[in-house]
Amino acid sequence: MSSRWSSLLTTLLLSIPSISALVPAPDPCAAIAGQKWVLPSEARACIRSFPLDPLIKSNVIEVVNKTLAFHTSVNYQVQAPPPYDQDVHEDLHADLDRIASTPYESEFDFHLDIYLSFKRVNDGHCGVYSRCFDSLYISYLPLPLSLLTEADGSQNIYISPEAYILSSAEFADSLEFWQDALPGGLKLQSLSGAKVLEINGQDPWVSVNTNANVAGSYQAFGTRQNGFFSSYHRGAEGWEYLMGNFASHPHPLVDFVSLTILLPGQTENTTFTIPYRSRFGSASKDFTDGPSLRANNCLATKSTNGIDLYGSSPAQILEQLEEYEHQAGFYRQQPALSPADYFQRHPLNVILDAIPLGDIELPPILQPALPAYNESYSVAEFFMLKDNATGVLALGSFSAKNFTQFGQALLDGLGALKEAGAERLVVDVTNNGGGYICIAHWLHRLIIGAKSTTVPQAGLDTTTRAGPLAKLVTAKILAGGDPAGLLYYNPAQWNNATHQPFPADTNWLDPHNKVVVNGREDAFSQRLGQECQPFRWEAPAKGLFEPHNVVIVSNGRCASSCSLFSITMSKEEGVRTVVVGGKADVQQHYCGIVGGQSTDFSTIDTEIKSTKLKDHPLSPPDFVTNSIQGITWRLGYGINDPTEPEEWQDHSADISFPVTKDIVNQPLGIWEAVARVVFKEEEASPMFVAQGSFD
Ligand SMILES: *[C@@H]1O[C@H](CO)[C@@H](O)[C@H](O)[C@H]1NC(C)=O
Ligand SMILES: *[C@@H]1O[C@H](CO)[C@@H](O)[C@H](O)[C@H]1NC(C)=O
Ligand SMILES: *[C@@H]1O[C@H](CO)[C@@H](O)[C@H](O)[C@H]1NC(C)=O
Ligand SMILES: *[C@@H]1O[C@H](CO)[C@@H](O)[C@H](O)[C@H]1NC(C)=O
Ligand SMILES: *[C@@H]1O[C@H](CO)[C@@H](O)[C@H](O)[C@H]1NC(C)=O
Ligand SMILES: *[C@@H]1O[C@H](CO)[C@@H](O)[C@H](O)[C@H]1NC(C)=O
Repeated sequence: MSSRWSSLLTTLLLSIPSISALVPAPDPCAAIAGQKWVLPSEARACIRSFPLDPLIKSNVIEVVNKTLAFHTSVNYQVQAPPPYDQDVHEDLHADLDRIASTPYESEFDFHLDIYLSFKRVNDGHCGVYSRCFDSLYISYLPLPLSLLTEADGSQNIYISPEAYILSSAEFADSLEFWQDALPGGLKLQSLSGAKVLEINGQDPWVSVNTNANVAGSYQAFGTRQNGFFSSYHRGAEGWEYLMGNFASHPHPLVDFVSLTILLPGQTENTTFTIPYRSRFGSASKDFTDGPSLRANNCLATKSTNGIDLYGSSPAQILEQLEEYEHQAGFYRQQPALSPADYFQRHPLNVILDAIPLGDIELPPILQPALPAYNESYSVAEFFMLKDNATGVLALGSFSAKNFTQFGQALLDGLGALKEAGAERLVVDVTNNGGGYICIAHWLHRLIIGAKSTTVPQAGLDTTTRAGPLAKLVTAKILAGGDPAGLLYYNPAQWNNATHQPFPADTNWLDPHNKVVVNGREDAFSQRLGQECQPFRWEAPAKGLFEPHNVVIVSNGRCASSCSLFSITMSKEEGVRTVVVGGKADVQQHYCGIVGGQSTDFSTIDTEIKSTKLKDHPLSPPDFVTNSIQGITWRLGYGINDPTEPEEWQDHSADISFPVTKDIVNQPLGIWEAVARVVFKEEEASPMFVAQGSFD
């Protein structure tokens, strides 16, 4: 090399660092702004480009740590008793201590550590979510999976038979991208129904179980396995499709997956790699670069924190509550509520998750091809099966927009089924994440009739945690701090253990019930009864269906108020429970995450601000970030052991029902198959797997 060239080269090389020091690094958020679909790596570069401000770190940790004092289960979750001892053993305060002393490369990495730590308690009520990061970009594959049972009873994992129909409807604008990414000759369309032999070069169950260990939400392992697969849900506007944890991720963390499959009708296997693709959140706010992404999506909004109900104008309160319904409602696994109902604050028990419900339609070909009764309303649809003797209530949530109309529809719809000759009832609560507590009580009372297990208490007695700050809030209220009776710690809101209203001067948290949980001192309020009865609808005195003629069907993913309903129906009335589509050798649970009443930081902060305790050292500060922290606020007592929470008592399903390729994700096919076997109209099918008490 000539010396002239070599000195030029040296000059160029030397100049590179100084050039890059002058030109700012390109903004990875500006690079993807305005695009609906991006690569996970592109979305990741953007959301990882925000360094962690030490003030944000200490703020989030302090809010979350102090709000945990209002979560009923924090000490129980350090080590749950059997049967969930292998499933729940997480010390959240220890996690926060660890996180406080861990350095993070970005605010996203910090959030992810908190998010995943909270997921490990396997309690869908308790979690920390961020509108800045969770579902800002949802990563999808056009290949949802299903666990199917063969004619000989063996089980295999398949690409869901409807995969291509689903993707062509939902991902039409990305199909070409995925088709082009497949190796030559392999058609996306031909992959539907292929048997999955390996995921990333390993037995697919390795992926299923790895996901079950981090997915959270439900105590039982089998229920967390079931979340890996696609499923359906009755939504407020129609039938919805859930992609499952394999084909949808709330964060852009995974770029590719490699699958080894057996195409239908072939004997030679095929291995290919397919990329995930990230879609900008349908409710996220547009941005042009990193700073505008943060300004629009990441900073506390009017509803992130509570409001002083006695120090704000009615207009400010209205604005805060409406914005709250929109923000906190985003991760709640239930339909949106009407503001008028929301202001009445009917108690809720509902789980949160990082991907909101209801974005994707169940392909019409899979929807029930039966006329729904005219009494159907929102998430509640009524059908009569072709035998004219089996009615179906498909119930996707215990919340619907109009509370009064919802309760009336349950009464009218079940009544119409009876009138049309229904003797048996299938209640399908697949992916029902809970909702209004009093709707759960009402449905139990309505189906079973008036008896000692339904009147006056058709749900579970509860208790709330009596921590030092909760007691201070209550003391302020007792001293006249809630003259309009607006606050949750006001005794006038609740009934005692014999279902009588507390007089307004009752210190219901004190004297309290002191307990030691996992070696830690804890305290709870006196036992609380129900506040749902008398109901606002008139129920017939006599039950509508005999308990042995009712069956509750789901994929196990029935939580919160859905658990209150299923547990009381099963344990008190003997109604049979069926879990559809689980792994045959894993115990299936018909519900999980009981709680008693759920709430969140913003609501608790309103209690604190309204009683002028915000400056107390135990009070959490305001979040500076656009965060939502869910908690269990009341905890239900058990039925078999009424002295301990129902949360960690057994919820094993009576029947684990296999799903075949003919009926997978087809509600009607599942109802007919379950009704045939459970109501014994035909000889029990040889594939039928009984667990527990059914024989
Ligand atoms: C969380 O709060 C507890 C008191 O309940 C305190 O001992 C602990 O140091 C706090 N943790 C962090 C990380 O601030
Ligand atoms: C796929 O086929 C190859 C070649 O026949 C075979 O060696 C391999 O074991 C097969 N893989 C699986 C997971 O069945
Ligand atoms: C709910 O529906 C009833 C009629 O069934 C109506 O009177 C009421 O105003 C509605 N409530 C809300 C909050 O929209
Ligand atoms: C629903 O109402 C329509 C019109 O009133 C009627 O034609 C239809 O038969 C009703 N359907 C059912 C299932 O009752
Ligand atoms: C069910 O009722 C419908 C109409 O009421 C009738 O057409 C049908 O034949 C009945 N089916 C059976 C199995 O009785
Ligand atoms: C509930 O309140 C009623 C009326 O004040 C009282 O008679 C009853 O003893 C109370 N029950 C319990 C369990 O404290």
